[in-house]
Amino acid sequence: MSLLIPPLPRSSSVNDSGHLEVAGCDVIELAGEFGTPLYIYDEQELRDRCRAYMDAFSSRCENFEVIYASKAFSCVAICQLVAREGLSLDAASGGELYTALAAWFPPEKIFLHGNANTAAELDFAIRSEVGHIVIDSLDEMVKVAGIAARQGRRQPVLLRITPGIEAHTHDFIQTGRLDSKFGFPLAGGTALDAVAAAQTAADIELVGVHAHIGSQIFALKPYRRTVAVLADFLAAAREKHGFDCRLLDLGGGLGAVYGPGDDPPAIDQLAEAVVSSVAAEMERRGLPLPRIAVEPGRSIVANAGLTAYEIEAVKTVFDVRNFVAVNGGMSDNLRPMLYGAGYQALIADRPLAEPTMTAAVAGKHCESGDILVKAAPLPEPRPGDILVTPATGAYGYSMASNYNGQPRPAVIFVKAGEARVVIKREAYEDLVHLQEKLE
Ligand SMILES: Cc1ncc(COP(=O)(O)O)c(C=O)c1O
Repeated sequence: MSLLIPPLPRSSSVNDSGHLEVAGCDVIELAGEFGTPLYIYDEQELRDRCRAYMDAFSSRCENFEVIYASKAFSCVAICQLVAREGLSLDAASGGELYTALAAWFPPEKIFLHGNANTAAELDFAIRSEVGHIVIDSLDEMVKVAGIAARQGRRQPVLLRITPGIEAHTHDFIQTGRLDSKFGFPLAGGTALDAVAAAQTAADIELVGVHAHIGSQIFALKPYRRTVAVLADFLAAAREKHGFDCRLLDLGGGLGAVYGPGDDPPAIDQLAEAVVSSVAAEMERRGLPLPRIAVEPGRSIVANAGLTAYEIEAVKTVFDVRNFVAVNGGMSDNLRPMLYGAGYQALIADRPLAEPTMTAAVAGKHCESGDILVKAAPLPEPRPGDILVTPATGAYGYSMASNYNGQPRPAVIFVKAGEARVVIKREAYEDLVHLQEKLE
């Protein structure tokens, strides 16, 4: 029986044993074999989402690039997978760059981001011959130019522009965003001055501009508005500095489904909005059509992933709340604590059973705020049950920590009834292996 709970991967179903199954794998068996907490990714869903992006853009324009934002989930296996699907990659640090290179990701298809890259990170990126560095400040521009000169290279760069658009779920508001730590603001001519500076720097090649307006976006209007604002900027940059933008990177941000109220636009709709508005806005201003890029993270990996935990305790605080405590928490999914993100929960051996209580799903950490799900309807939860939270594929493992000495969980990919480990579970020895004893 197919299990149409939207945050779960599309392959999810209930098998003959009545258990939750993902890509032909019984989640109870996976938990038994690989232990818990366990991140489970449906490999085909990952591939399908990459392909949805590639198809949506290739059917509308020839000159495009889909750049996977690896901050959403970075490991060697996902870098290999997105490379094989033809995507480029956004690395937000030396560590993400190292991971991509360890997967033999083609360096020319890597974009290095970051608002505080160190000289060592920039040196590593330029030495690795990354395709583009997205410059976030004048200080970074000076560093990149200096390092490129020392290495005898001319580094292609984009400028990160703060378009003054703040995207909120279902809405957008236009602000000065003067307090954003990212990019060159349009206000006060800062971004225009950056174009002039980049054009005159000998060892960098200004290829284009970049903007990222936010994450978990449920509307297309902010993207269209961003294109219009950037087109105005590019018209001014052409007039004042003779700059022709060859690459226009519109960032990531398309939303994922975490719960019943979440209804993000389809990938195809995003592509339509982006491609048509770039064509229209450039033409209106008599500007040449640039290569179009987007940088999705969450919309590729979030709904392909889920986490399986074991329930350790169930308690009722009379007249207040029920608690179901699991063997993970903020060390494997920080998003509920960081920004109040909502998740759902189900019990893997009876996912369709009628709920008998509403409970807060609590983590095992020494923080009262370590609550994964505020109010989950659950069918008689018991210690030993395997509890699943869907849609944990983005910013879960990548934000994981060892808080309270918790080893980071394993990550597995499942496909056509087969499971394979792509990141091993940490052992207690891993917690101390970098540490030195006192004399
Ligand atoms: C520069 C940049 N690009 C892309 C992304 C990916 O965003 P999302 O995962 O919402 O698609 C982010 C996320 O923070 C970002 O900062």
